Amino acid sequence: MDIVKYRVFEQEDLQNVASFLSGLKDYYPGFEKWLVRKTSEPKTFCYIAEVDKNIVGVVISAPENNKTYKISTLFVHPDFRNKKVGTTLVKLAHDDASSYPHLEQIFITSDKSLLPTLGEWLHKNYGFVPLYAEPNRYIEGHAEVFYFKKFRKVVS
Ligand SMILES: CC(C)(COP(=O)(O)OP(=O)(O)OC[C@H]1O[C@@H](n2cnc3c(N)ncnc32)[C@H](O)[C@@H]1OP(=O)(O)O)[C@@H](O)C(=O)NCCC(=O)NCCS
Repeated sequence: MDIVKYRVFEQEDLQNVASFLSGLKDYYPGFEKWLVRKTSEPKTFCYIAEVDKNIVGVVISAPENNKTYKISTLFVHPDFRNKKVGTTLVKLAHDDASSYPHLEQIFITSDKSLLPTLGEWLHKNYGFVPLYAEPNRYIEGHAEVFYFKKFRKVVS
C-alpha cells in the first residue's frame, strides 16, 4: 500500500511542484511566474503530499484579506485520487485558515472545464457553493467559477 506523507513546501521543491502542476499552464497563462511569486510570500500556505518522495498532491492557499481566505490551487495526481489526499490537503488549508481570527468565508475558483471533478467534489463533500462565473478571466472563451463556503472554525 502506498504511504502518503504530508509536509510543508520548501523552496527546493519549486521545480518539482511546477512540473507536477504543469497541466495548469494551459488554463492559467503566467502560471509558473505566479507560482514563484506566490510560494515566496510569507502568508502563503503550501503543502505537499508525497509517495516515495514523488509529489502526488499540492494545495496552495492564503488569506485574501481579513475576512476571506482563498485556496488558489488544489490538485491530486489522477493515479492517487479517491485515497483521501484531497480531503487531507483541504483540511490542512482549513487549519491554516483557522489561524486568522476574523475570517468569514473561504473560496476557491476553477476553470469551468475543470469542474466535473473539482467543482462537484467541493460541492458534494464540503458544501462549497458556486456563486458566480467570470467569463474570459484568464483566457478567452474560458469562464472561471467562484465557489464559496462560510468559514466555521472546527474545534476538536
Ligand atoms: C477534486 C480532487 C482534489 C479530489 O481529490 P481526491 O484525493 O481524489 O479526493 P478524496 O479521495 O479526498 O475524496 C474522497 C471522496 O470524494 C468522492 N469523490 C471523488 N470524486 C468526486 C466527484 N467528482 N464528485 C463528488 N465526489 C467525489 C469520493 O467518492 C470520496 O467519497 P467518500 O469519502 O464518501 O468515499 C481531485 O480529483 C483533483 O485534483 N482534481 C483536479 C482538480 C483541479 O483541476 N485543480 C486545478 C484547479 S485549482
